[in-house]
Amino acid sequence: MVLTFSGGSSRWKEVALAAAAVVGLVAAAAVGVFMGRYVLHSRAPASDRPADVAKTVLMSVPLIDGHNDLPWQLLKRFNNSIEHFDFDKDVRDLWFDSSTDIPRLKKGLLGAQFWVVYVPCELQHKTAVRQSFEQLDVIKRLVNKYPDTLKLVTSAKGIIDTFNEGKIGSLIGVEGGHSIDSSLGVLRMYYDLGVRYMTLTHNCDPPWAGSNVLDRLNSTRFRGLSGFGKEVVREMNRLGMMVDLAHVSVDTMRDALATSDAPVFFSHSSAWALCHNYRNVPDDILRATADKGGVIMVNFHGDFINCPPKNQSDVTLAQVADHIEYIRNLTGPDHVGIGSDFDGGIM
Ligand SMILES: *[C@@H]1O[C@H](CO)[C@@H](O)[C@H](O)[C@H]1NC(C)=O
Ligand SMILES: *[C@@H]1O[C@H](CO)[C@@H](O)[C@H](O)[C@H]1NC(C)=O
Ligand SMILES: *[C@@H]1O[C@H](CO)[C@@H](O)[C@H](O)[C@H]1NC(C)=O
Ligand SMILES: *[C@@H]1O[C@H](CO)[C@@H](O)[C@H](O)[C@H]1NC(C)=O
Repeated sequence: MVLTFSGGSSRWKEVALAAAAVVGLVAAAAVGVFMGRYVLHSRAPASDRPADVAKTVLMSVPLIDGHNDLPWQLLKRFNNSIEHFDFDKDVRDLWFDSSTDIPRLKKGLLGAQFWVVYVPCELQHKTAVRQSFEQLDVIKRLVNKYPDTLKLVTSAKGIIDTFNEGKIGSLIGVEGGHSIDSSLGVLRMYYDLGVRYMTLTHNCDPPWAGSNVLDRLNSTRFRGLSGFGKEVVREMNRLGMMVDLAHVSVDTMRDALATSDAPVFFSHSSAWALCHNYRNVPDDILRATADKGGVIMVNFHGDFINCPPKNQSDVTLAQVADHIEYIRNLTGPDHVGIGSDFDGGIM
């Protein structure tokens, strides 16, 4: 690779902000995840202007966004009937700024995207599994509808091959352990159908894991992973499904770090030190995640970036870059990424 982010941090920030200006996304992301292992196109930037360097980075290494909730919008807006949904046009006027569409994903030079299977916590112990399968189905139908742009991938090699074909690798994550209804059989079938991460909790507690809400409420309940919760983590390790710790309590983070053989990661969480929101990650966990080879993918949601003041207009892209830089300072560049939460968080 011609490019590294090993230079001074001000230089890094300049490049990241230039990328933001040019392509609408902050550069950096999963660069470190793949740089060591795969040799991609080596290209020299047209100039050493930050904008050119950023563009070269994004064309050389797939930027992988850890979390996009478009499938949830497809359910809410179209009841999952996507025949008339036009992903090929700019939807900003129709929806909201933090939505995605193919023109802007392309302009942003996005390499790969985790599309998210999310169903509300209220469905736990009710129809969560059925509705999760329906969200899995709508993701596959969406990907099949746009074969020139999107391609379902289930492996690191698939990401690289698809990137080299000029398409956006489409990965699937399940957001919340309530979607397995305490069944390892359901978990295994998600894997078979292409799911490659599961967030252990959303903002509610499956019987086997504590969520961030317990921390927010300073609950006296047990907040970590139960014996079965540890079994879930070990089964995910065995299958090759990544353990996502966004949304979980700090005790669950610690228990998962201690239990998992494989690296764990945060698909969409920012730094607690810069914003005391219980969805964010404290310093010791950032370090432990990095020590285990994991990645913290920074969430753009205003509530997790700048708090207080609670004024979304006061949240800037530069502050998102601060979270990325803060984590990079603490862990080194290999352990920081982007998990925009686009189409989920309205910010
Ligand atoms: C949503 O679609 C399902 C079929 O997939 C149908 O049974 C249901 O009635 C629809 N709901 C609404 C509100 O249209
Ligand atoms: C949380 O609750 C414990 C008692 O269960 C108490 O000692 C502690 O001070 C509380 N922490 C906060 C931040 O309120
Ligand atoms: C939020 O911030 C913007 C820009 O700083 C300001 O114009 C607006 O009045 C603020 N809104 C509130 C509710 O404080
Ligand atoms: C990262 O470290 C640099 C160099 O020590 C420092 O100037 C910068 O403020 C740090 N950034 C953050 C967001 O803490």
